[in-house]
Amino acid sequence: MAEKLRFGIVGCGVIGPTHAAALASLSDDAVLVAAADIVPEKAQAFAEKYHCKAYSSLEEMLESEQLDVVDVCVPSGLHGELACKVMRSGRHVIVEKPMEITHERIEEMLRVQRETGRKMAVISQHRFDDAAVQIHKLVQENAFGRLVLGNAAIPWWRSQKYYDSGAWRGTWALDGGGILMNQSIHSIDVLQWLMGPVKSIRAYTDTLVHKMETEDVAVAVLRFENGALGTISATTGGYPGATTRIEIFGDRGSAIIENDRLGYLHLARDDAEEIGPYGGAKRQTGAGEEGGATASDPAALKASTHAMQIADMINAIREDKQPAIYGELARHPVDIILGVYESARTGKEVTL
Ligand SMILES: NC(=O)c1ccc[n+]([C@@H]2O[C@H](COP(=O)([O-])OP(=O)(O)OC[C@H]3O[C@@H](n4cnc5c(N)ncnc54)[C@H](O)[C@@H]3O)[C@@H](O)[C@H]2O)c1
Repeated sequence: MAEKLRFGIVGCGVIGPTHAAALASLSDDAVLVAAADIVPEKAQAFAEKYHCKAYSSLEEMLESEQLDVVDVCVPSGLHGELACKVMRSGRHVIVEKPMEITHERIEEMLRVQRETGRKMAVISQHRFDDAAVQIHKLVQENAFGRLVLGNAAIPWWRSQKYYDSGAWRGTWALDGGGILMNQSIHSIDVLQWLMGPVKSIRAYTDTLVHKMETEDVAVAVLRFENGALGTISATTGGYPGATTRIEIFGDRGSAIIENDRLGYLHLARDDAEEIGPYGGAKRQTGAGEEGGATASDPAALKASTHAMQIADMINAIREDKQPAIYGELARHPVDIILGVYESARTGKEVTL
């Protein structure tokens, strides 16, 4: 059996424990050795719970421990700085989403990654959901025919208490945005993975419910490179939070992912006979109801898809290949979101 890879985690807040749980589920291949947080009590409590060593800074952890990989779980606007420190220290890095919040810092991360020859994976765990994988495979088989429309709807609720729970939340400097950069990036990533690259964007954003710098509602119209149109509609002001939907429509089929599960799929190739001129849609049942934990509480996130992505990184390191979601791919949803912000700010169409 190959030796276990030694992991460290920096950032012991909401998402750090999901990484620890994911690593625990991969105990044949990985061991969590250390955790760091600038709040020493948080590092200490985390280390006690997950049986590893506590540090009060990333630097101290990197200097003191023999590590293969560090998972960066700190506020979004610190991802680049910390990920570059990890790679410069000779370790591989797994960065939480979003990869970073500006083009310049993303480019710096990619430059350091190339210079150091380390591997960098960026978490986008919903690409590992069964429904997303299944629909992506069907898109590759051209089962939807000519793609015509792709929509992502993220009608969520976050209380003011949520935004007040961390000084970084809802700020331009550290969250990099609101409902789009923080919560919707998953759905936007899956949408563009299924529909293909986005070419241009027209958008509106606003802050209507919360006391925060960044947007809590956004609507964008997309033109994909393949000519299809699409929309993003998202809010954290929609009490109490409703179904997250990703919809794909083509002239040979349609699919709807609801709360990360397949809610609807109808392909012309499976029809026994041709449907009439007005179409016809049979609903699949049983989808959607249980999958939406992140709509209400990110701490309730299941670690299984994080574990799949970490397992993919372990495999990439052992076999010296690219992880499934490497930096050049992970930047796409951030580029789209920054395009939405620019269009909303300038009132103009933005071409990516
Ligand atoms: N993949 C997902 O579904 C998902 C879910 C939640 C959060 N996230 C991402 O994870 C990141 C963290 O989010 P969170 O909700 O866990 O935030 P959080 O505020 O709960 O935790 C962040 C932790 O980082 C620590 N920290 C801050 N600066 C540090 C530094 N320089 N060195 C060491 N520790 C430092 C803080 O003390 C805090 O404990 C964000 O980028 C967020 O977008 C991803």
